[in-house]
Amino acid sequence: MSNNFSEKIISWYLEKGRKDLPWRNNISPYRVWISEIMLQQTQVKTVIPYFKKFIERYPDIDSISQASEDELLAIWSGLGFYKRAQNIFKAKEIIKNDFSNKFPDKFEEILMLPGIGRSTAGAIMAIAYKKSYPILDANVKRVITRYSGIDEFSKTKLDKALWLESTKLKADKKIFEYTQGVMDLGATVCTAKNMNCKNCPLNKECESAFKSLNKGLLLPKSKKLKKEKMDYVLAYTLDKILLIKRDKKRFWQSLWVPIEKNSGIIIDHSKAESINKINISHKLSHLELVISVSLLKFKKPFDVLSNSEVYWINKIDIDNIGVPKPIKDILVTL
Ligand code: ADE
Repeated sequence: MSNNFSEKIISWYLEKGRKDLPWRNNISPYRVWISEIMLQQTQVKTVIPYFKKFIERYPDIDSISQASEDELLAIWSGLGFYKRAQNIFKAKEIIKNDFSNKFPDKFEEILMLPGIGRSTAGAIMAIAYKKSYPILDANVKRVITRYSGIDEFSKTKLDKALWLESTKLKADKKIFEYTQGVMDLGATVCTAKNMNCKNCPLNKECESAFKSLNKGLLLPKSKKLKKEKMDYVLAYTLDKILLIKRDKKRFWQSLWVPIEKNSGIIIDHSKAESINKINISHKLSHLELVISVSLLKFKKPFDVLSNSEVYWINKIDIDNIGVPKPIKDILVTL
């Protein structure tokens, strides 16, 4: 059923929406999938250059079908939430093996792919296939909560209420414009910090319009992050760097990092030509990493005894492997 909410959003999108975003042109299910995964936890302006680079390297499902997990992590380097790249790897293997390398077009099949939840599957159906499915990402949650004046109660009840509301409010026709429009309205007008009701096409019917900013859910919570200390030894020569593939699951799994101090791998400091130390702090979504890196410069590479994947990697190859952002920032200075 068409409704005022969706009609107003569609007209607003056609007039004011961000129609030039790279994933909104040359639409294909594959491109929509990659963009939606990148946009899950990252802002539009950060995603744009990563999306362009990714699509240049892997323009379609055929070109990504032979990519290794390492290659996908390398191109994802710096974007964070690396699980997303690993899920893209798993999903494209499933698409290759179970769907004859064609991106599925049924909601239930898309929802089964790693890294794709109900909202992302809905976005792919709406944007790539123009089928009327609801979405509920953080922006849409905020717009709907304010518009319908939904109160904060228990998280599960709230989610259920919001999904019902999102389903009720979505457009039947022009679902592409509606979906992008409601995302854009949340990102550019009805933002977390500001309601900007004056510029909102929904300000006549919205339950919260021109009222003081709602509390609780609608405001970004400033989280106090738990701190985690990490001590690294970074051994390097004029043209090589000693790195290990991290096998811990909690974060940065399968990315390349220096040797951890207590890893059991012995690096003889007495042979180093120079020793320096850097301290950095890096925030993840759930942790603040307090990282200390001892920089040890050696004349030439030495053998390392370990049953993990440890290699002297050429400095010029650093862009071809997955390295966490704070580590890469150090490596490029060596
Ligand atoms: N956030 C999630 N999906 C998006 C999209 N397609 N466009 C802009 N922001 C988004």
